[in-house]
Amino acid sequence: MGDMILGIETSCDETAVAVVERASVVRSSVISSQVDQHAEFGGVVPEIAGRAHVREFVPVLAEALATSGVEGKDMDAVAATVGPGLVGSLLVGMSAAKALSLVWGVPFVGVNHLEAHLYASFLEEPDLELPLVVLLVSGGHTMLVLMEGHGRYRLLGSTLDDAAGEAFDKVARYLGLGYPGGPAVDALAEEGDPRAYAYPRSMVRENPETLPDDRRYAFSFSGLKTAVVNHVRSDPAAATADVAASFQEAVVDALVVKARWAVEATGAKGACLGGGVAANSRLRERFLDMCTATGVRAFLPSRAMCTDNAAMVAAAGWWRLRSDGPSPLDTSADSNLGLSLLG
Ligand code: KG4
Ligand code: ZN
Repeated sequence: MGDMILGIETSCDETAVAVVERASVVRSSVISSQVDQHAEFGGVVPEIAGRAHVREFVPVLAEALATSGVEGKDMDAVAATVGPGLVGSLLVGMSAAKALSLVWGVPFVGVNHLEAHLYASFLEEPDLELPLVVLLVSGGHTMLVLMEGHGRYRLLGSTLDDAAGEAFDKVARYLGLGYPGGPAVDALAEEGDPRAYAYPRSMVRENPETLPDDRRYAFSFSGLKTAVVNHVRSDPAAATADVAASFQEAVVDALVVKARWAVEATGAKGACLGGGVAANSRLRERFLDMCTATGVRAFLPSRAMCTDNAAMVAAAGWWRLRSDGPSPLDTSADSNLGLSLLG
């Protein structure tokens, strides 16, 4: 089986194409972001996203091929995200991937976007030791997963309401920091005091044993968002930088404390981060400290690999192709696709 994979990502508001060799050498990775087109609406507008993917796809593909130095005839497979995401957006990348696989006479591989975020770490550090605790934090998901092998995931816990990225986006919007909110809160928090306000940390205790099993690794961020809103309403003079830093600290505390519990309880060899929120400066710093304190190996993907890109899709596709073979050409888009989990 060949090693040169073309990866395609169009699940949300980034049109991305990459060429990756052996799931570890990035030959090219091109991303066209639609952020400007959605900013005035304060979030991603599905109709605009789908149309923008159609417009952007061919130029992005052309640039990814040209800069990779690899010709279409030398590609061994085409991988595309098939879910979760916006259906109208997913279909653009999937249809293109299927057409290219037919033209080049190579396999098509459908990739789960969550698994792709997870493989961002393997792409940059192929020798990561298993089992591995993975904290997957994006705009749509917040999950703590124990990865026991390639394609073998055990879910430890996830969010009961908002995803971490969603909380960043909602709080940023309320504070008037614009869209997307995560990077804006991250930057402003640098100038604030993380201890200025004691916002709530949901289901966080001194001793994890005092929490019921199904809550131990669970997260909840909607109460935190409400606490921030109520506080700012009652204290309009509060410095926005202090609010941003205190909010960020509360999110990071919950994420890092539970990741530490997971590392301690599972005896994992390492821990890694994935998803857009993994680009957060404070989370990266605190996660590294936690790994040092517990004596496990940490891996933080570069910031560019944390947010949506197609290199991670190509890497996940290479592993999927090895374990399951090609996907059928009638594979459909699944907006709610979950990570396939061990019992
Ligand atoms: O993984 P991603 O690019 O797309 C999804 O699959 O959802 O994640 C996007 C999310 C957004 O909510 C964005 O605000 C958040 O990641 N994000 C950040 C940072 N950069 C992106 N959140 C906190 N700090 C950041 N530096
Ligand atoms: Zn994503």
